[in-house]
Amino acid sequence: MFFLLPTPQAIADYVSHRLIQLIRHKPDAVLGLATGSTMEPIYERFCQQVAQQDIDVSHLTTFNLDEYIGLGADHPQSYHYYMRQYLFNRVAFAQHKTFLPDGLCVDLNEQCQRYSDLIRQAGGIDLQLLGIGSNGHIGFNEPGTSFASRTHVVDLSEQTRLDNGRFFDSQDHVPTQAITLGLQDIAEAKDILLIATGSNKAQTMADLYASALDEAMPASIVKAHPRAMVIVDEAAAALLPQGVCKTLTQMA
Ligand code: F6R
Repeated sequence: MFFLLPTPQAIADYVSHRLIQLIRHKPDAVLGLATGSTMEPIYERFCQQVAQQDIDVSHLTTFNLDEYIGLGADHPQSYHYYMRQYLFNRVAFAQHKTFLPDGLCVDLNEQCQRYSDLIRQAGGIDLQLLGIGSNGHIGFNEPGTSFASRTHVVDLSEQTRLDNGRFFDSQDHVPTQAITLGLQDIAEAKDILLIATGSNKAQTMADLYASALDEAMPASIVKAHPRAMVIVDEAAAALLPQGVCKTLTQMA
């Protein structure tokens, strides 16, 4: 379940390689995508490899995990903006097949229902990328979220608002709510790669390792998934007991 690679760059190489392997095998695969600092080197490497290897990404469908409520697609801290910046403006995805929740949507409940339905209609997620919040959230499923949850509106915890304050001009500008894919939606992905890098995730990884399947630790849901991998760099693995992590072969 826990796999170790030395650095964020080595993880980016591995994850990019996995994505490209999937696309070669299934050109119309459905990807579940995350945002945040952890994903930045991964998308960077993926864009390089897509260009170098002339990979056609135009048949893929993508679903992002989450979006802040109240931020439009052109707001620099919105996840729509992030995805254009790090991925969609850089490789030729078919725009009409890239889905994110709409943070300005008026009928949020209808949108939530539709988002989970769209994923099912697309055949389900083949490979889900996940980062993890310091409190164990995945997507924006905060501690206490039901493992049976579908796409829903969430009140962001103070911890998450503080953690994400670094992206905003002031703490007051951090939205208080978001739309997130539910834990059940995430758990239905055929493959899951949960990635944690950096010393600020070391305690979270130790907590995840020690946790039973427990809604107080949302990321623990991946422990029940037969094909989920938790991939950590050395800094994030620092507080894991010796011998817990299997070593992954590095990808060039
Ligand atoms: C973002 C998301 C979040 C982040 C998590 C870690 O789409 O789903 O769960 O993955 O907050 O964020 P970083 O990578 O910035 O530490």
